[in-house]
Amino acid sequence: MAKRDLISIFDLKKAEIENLIKDANILKKEKKRSRPLRGKTLAMIFEKASTRTRVSFEVGMYQLGGTALYLNANDLQLGKGETIEDTAKTLSRYADCIMLRTFAHDNVVKLASAASVPVINGLSDLSHPCQILSDLFTVYEKNKNYKKLTYAYIGDSNNVLNSWIEAAGVLGLHLKIATPRSFAPSGAILETAREFNQTGIKLYNDPDEAVKDADVIYTDVWVSMGQENKREEKIKDFAGFQVNSVLVNKAKHNAIVMHCLPAHRDEEITSEVLDGRQSVVFDQAENRLHMQKAILKLLIK
Ligand code: CP
Ligand code: NVA
Repeated sequence: MAKRDLISIFDLKKAEIENLIKDANILKKEKKRSRPLRGKTLAMIFEKASTRTRVSFEVGMYQLGGTALYLNANDLQLGKGETIEDTAKTLSRYADCIMLRTFAHDNVVKLASAASVPVINGLSDLSHPCQILSDLFTVYEKNKNYKKLTYAYIGDSNNVLNSWIEAAGVLGLHLKIATPRSFAPSGAILETAREFNQTGIKLYNDPDEAVKDADVIYTDVWVSMGQENKREEKIKDFAGFQVNSVLVNKAKHNAIVMHCLPAHRDEEITSEVLDGRQSVVFDQAENRLHMQKAILKLLIK
């Protein structure tokens, strides 16, 4: 059977996403842990910092009976100029799966095409599929009708938003996106998502419009990893796009507030909201573990 990679949410069918959510839910409730990945190894390459992705994959592999290797890209020969393809072929001889957190998305694509074992995108500049899969699980825990809810994303057009757009495409979600005019999403991901879901993905430049009737309010940092030199400019560009209590009060009364973390407190989201009654951000952080386990079980045979 051909190996499977998880490079983007578009790699999954609707039923597979639903099954991952169900499996994460079972794994979360499991009293006695099954160890289906006994003897298996996950190699994790990081070019960027990580708390949640690293620890959830590492603990997840351990709980499934396997083991995970943390490889800092700069400590590998990769950081000294060995090609991604040669790295992929070498690691495929030792490990049963490779996860990569990188800058250029093409690096994940190249790694996956040269590796003979499954490759997981642990975040690239273009997308962050594992995050959005676990976020969908978090929404499911709060409301089993998660496919029928109204989602509002406020902020930057980044990797996290791209994965939300892909999920909205595959699952047919109603996703309202508010960005400053010059940061509106466009391009292949939006077009492909709209081929699946023609009317459900709507773009706004006014956060108030986007949160109207929303059940879920989502935000992420304005300055993603690798964009630090654009910081001052972006802070100005995103004025008015903060998720604060005034904005949250314009959504449905029982709306939940989500953020993938790490947050820049009092920048894209106020501490009051992040720590407030509607916030589910630490459930999201926990659920990375349960969803990573479901993903690993799906890909590693
Ligand atoms: N949300 C997320 O991917 O967190 P880390 O950067 O800590 O892995
Ligand atoms: N958009 C953020 C997500 C971090 C998990 C970044 O790329 O830095």
